[in-house]
Amino acid sequence: MQNVIVTGGAGFIGSNFVRYLLGADHQVRIINLDALTYAGSLENLKNLPASERHIFVQGDICDRALVDDLLARYQIDTIVHFAAETHVDRSILGPEQFIRTNVMGTFTLLEAARRYWLDEKANPVAPQEVRFHHISTDEVFGTLQPDDPPFSEITPYAPRSPYAASKAASDHLVRAYGHTYGLPFTITNCTNNYGPYQFPEKLIPLMILNALQGRLLPVYGDGQQIRDWLYVEDHCEAILTVLRHGQVGESYNVGGGNQPTNLTVIHEICDILDELQPNSPYSPHDQLIQYVKDRPGHDRRYAMDITSIQRELDWHPRQSLSSGLARTVQWYLENPSWIDAIHQQQDYQGWLAKNYGDRETTSNQS
Ligand code: NAD
Ligand code: DAU
Repeated sequence: MQNVIVTGGAGFIGSNFVRYLLGADHQVRIINLDALTYAGSLENLKNLPASERHIFVQGDICDRALVDDLLARYQIDTIVHFAAETHVDRSILGPEQFIRTNVMGTFTLLEAARRYWLDEKANPVAPQEVRFHHISTDEVFGTLQPDDPPFSEITPYAPRSPYAASKAASDHLVRAYGHTYGLPFTITNCTNNYGPYQFPEKLIPLMILNALQGRLLPVYGDGQQIRDWLYVEDHCEAILTVLRHGQVGESYNVGGGNQPTNLTVIHEICDILDELQPNSPYSPHDQLIQYVKDRPGHDRRYAMDITSIQRELDWHPRQSLSSGLARTVQWYLENPSWIDAIHQQQDYQGWLAKNYGDRETTSNQS
């Protein structure tokens, strides 16, 4: 792994991965291809270690000519593909962009990689030295009942939101390119991430930022939905582990091994803020909790069996949910200028108005 394209490397997990990889591998050169949608920001890439080995290119993964050019110009041997539309609520209100980026964008990258890596005339890099690593999600497996066993790598796909369906389609395409054309690939399907640089449309940063400003904390439905949370740096380590030691043609489930309800997570964030900001006028912060109308088609529970990556590759999450949440809240408290930049974004204010402005409140406490 010498010359790597990271797609979506100005987003939440992508920027954490760029930072992590530059620190962990002292040879690698990263070409960071990101369209800088509302979710991507150069603010996320400030103060990178070894920034001379990082080249940022603003561009669209659906732009085939651009992708062809980057592959050839930098003699790319590895693609780590994060770029996507990622927010379930946005996919419900506007699915089209999800199909374009997540399905057509992945297809464009696969076609370009196939031509460059597997067409002998075009390829200066040996096919056994190349890798397409696709970042995917647990949501492709659908939803679980309270007593169901967790998702494993062989659980049949059953996506239930436009976002999840678009990610499932992209996973299928990656596998199809592996089986049909022999494109060397790996996939990681990961649970909910949280940590520094996460855009505050997602549950944990939304709750932290709202609580800091004394805004209501909107809980969808009864708040008893269950997610498995993974601290983002642990996810980055899992991806690098799979890149270095994973079996080509395999997918690996990645997760934090926890099962809190949304309400538990929100209360834990409030408790951390009460402790760190005892003089806040909004303390105790859980007084801000407000039940609101549920998300349509809301998946009830996700859980991951991570035995395979633990046993085969010796990867384990380092942060517990409590230690990861404490670090995360601390990071947001220490980075007010990052928060200010997002609050000034018109798109963000527009999103808050669109998703929460007219949302019915309920007394849906269980
Ligand atoms: P994000 O929304 O924070 O960032 C996405 C990035 O992709 C942004 O920088 C955006 O500018 C870029 N992008 C979007 N469309 C693009 C296009 N057409 N061309 C180039 N760049 C484009 O996302 P994230 O939360 O960091 O998720 C990254 C990946 O990880 C996604 O593939 C997502 O499905 C997957 N994933 C996320 C989670 C999670 O909890 N956040 C969990 C499992 C898997
Ligand atoms: O499971 C992995 C997935 O996790 C990723 O693939 C997605 O990209 C990522 O967005 C995330 O999806 P979720 O829908 O689980 O994440 P979100 O943070 O939007 O919501 C987490 C839970 O919190 C979910 O049950 C909905 C609930 N929620 C969310 C928001 C934004 C609320 O109750 N209130 C809210 O305001």
